[in-house]
Formats: sequence, C-alpha cells, structure tokens
Amino acid sequence: MTMLTIENLQASVADKPILKGLSLTINPGEIHAIMGPNGAGKSTTGYVLGGRPGYTVTGGSVEFMGQDLLQLEPHERAAAGLFLGFQYPVEIPGVSFVQFLREAANAQRKGRGEEPLSGGEFLKLAKEKAALLRMDMDMLKRPVNVGFSGGEKKRAEMVQMGILDPKLAILDETDSGLDIDALRICGEGINSIMRAPDKAVLLITHYQRLLDYVKPDFVHVLAGGRIVKSGGPELALELEEQGYEAVA
Ligand SMILES: Nc1ncnc2c1ncn2[C@@H]1O[C@H](COP(=O)(O)OP(=O)(O)OP(=O)(O)O)[C@@H](O)[C@H]1O
Ligand SMILES: [Mg+2]
Repeated sequence: MTMLTIENLQASVADKPILKGLSLTINPGEIHAIMGPNGAGKSTTGYVLGGRPGYTVTGGSVEFMGQDLLQLEPHERAAAGLFLGFQYPVEIPGVSFVQFLREAANAQRKGRGEEPLSGGEFLKLAKEKAALLRMDMDMLKRPVNVGFSGGEKKRAEMVQMGILDPKLAILDETDSGLDIDALRICGEGINSIMRAPDKAVLLITHYQRLLDYVKPDFVHVLAGGRIVKSGGPELALELEEQGYEAVA
C-alpha cells in the first residue's frame, strides 16, 4: 500500500483553478521534496490535502494509506496520521502552547479510539520533544505563537509534529526564517521524528539548504498547478544552479 497517491488532482480557490492535474505517489519510508516558483500551487497542495475550508477539489483523487482522503473531515485526516506544517503558523492568543498541544494530542487519540494521555504522560512527551528541538519549556507556556519569532514558530511546529507523531508530514517552507543553527536543529528533528520505514515526508522548499539535512529520495518541480519534472536529489542542485526556466 502506498502512503499517498494523488491522481490528476484539480482544485480551485475562490473559483480560480490552481491545481491542474497534479499527480504524485509517495511510498512509506520516502522523503519527497517539492520545489517550484512562487504562486505555483505548492501551499495550495498542502491545504487541499489537509482539508482547509475554501479549497474546492474539482477533479482527481487522493488515497492516503488505503483511504479516500478527500472524504475525510480535516480532524479525521489528522487522526489518520496526516500532519500539515504551515508556511505561516497562526497565533492563538489566550491559549498556551502546552494546553493546545495536549488538546490536539488527545483529540487525535480520541479519534483513533485511544485513551487520553494523563497530565504527567503528556508533560514527559512534551519535554522530550521540546528538548529535541532545543526549545525552552517556558516558551511553550506562552500563548500559541504570540510574539514568537519566525524561527521560534517553525521550531514550535516541529515540537507539535513530534508530539502528534504523524505517518505523513507535509512541511511547507519549514526552513524559511530559520537561522543557521535552527536550520540544522529542525532538519535533525525532522529526521529523528519522521525517518522511519512506516512514515513519509513531503517537504515544500525553495532552497537546497534544508535538503542538506533532510535528504530527499525524490525531488519534484511544481509549476502551473502540476508536477512538471521529477528526479533524484540532484535535481534540487540543478534547479539552484540553473533556475526553473532552464530545468523544468
Ligand atoms: N483566496 C484566494 N483567492 C485568489 N487566489 C488565491 C487565493 N489563495 C491563493 N490564491 C492563488 O493561488 C496561487 C497559488 O498559491 P500558493 O500559495 O499555492 O503558491 P505557492 O506555490 O505556495 O507559492 P510560494 O512559493 O510563494 O509560497 C497564487 O497565484 C495565489 O495568488
Ligand atoms: Mg507557499
């Protein structure tokens, strides 16, 4: 069984067609990178897979671990093991990050018919994942993302991913805004959380730098709402040297 099979996916935002026949297959154990020009539909792909309201699928199919993904509500997709990391993480004033993470973890466990984590169990897990991302626990006591720097938001998101322990992570420009050390820490975090024979990652990125840490098995170019070229890790280097026009 594949992790994700996207076939001829077409989707619109505000009646504007953005995805125009996107096909992509991801197997368990694989790391895929999607690169492509601004406005190509990369974030849209993530949103459509996550089930964000306002994104209308007009054609094609998506199978996630044997299930018809498009028939599932967003929370059911998350409970089934899909994680979406955002290009622009949202701020939630009034809710602390630890509270939010615990609610999210337990909602997913409930969706899978599992018992909720006790306060102690949750805190142990949160501390372990925060340490992995070198994130101060005090920081996670603050309201979700409020006043976090760009890089702190991305790192907090990786802590969230560690706690939720998804099967497939779609990470949208997780490297943007990270300083040199944070880039390495996040890259190592992604590897330690997601590099497993029964997991897979789809990295959306503009630069090779993240791929130096999280080595992709496949690189795809998304342009004009579809995958126009696929290759191995060398494709990312070619793109960086020559740009999209020459390569795709
Ligand atoms: N609500 C909306 N109304 C109209 N157009 C939209 C809306 N949301 C997205 N779009 C358009 O959809 C296209 C694809 O956007 P998307 O965010 O998927 O691009 P991207 O490939 O992630 O680009 P970037 O590299 O800049 O992040 C863009 O042209 C964008 O303007
Ligand atoms: Mg984007």
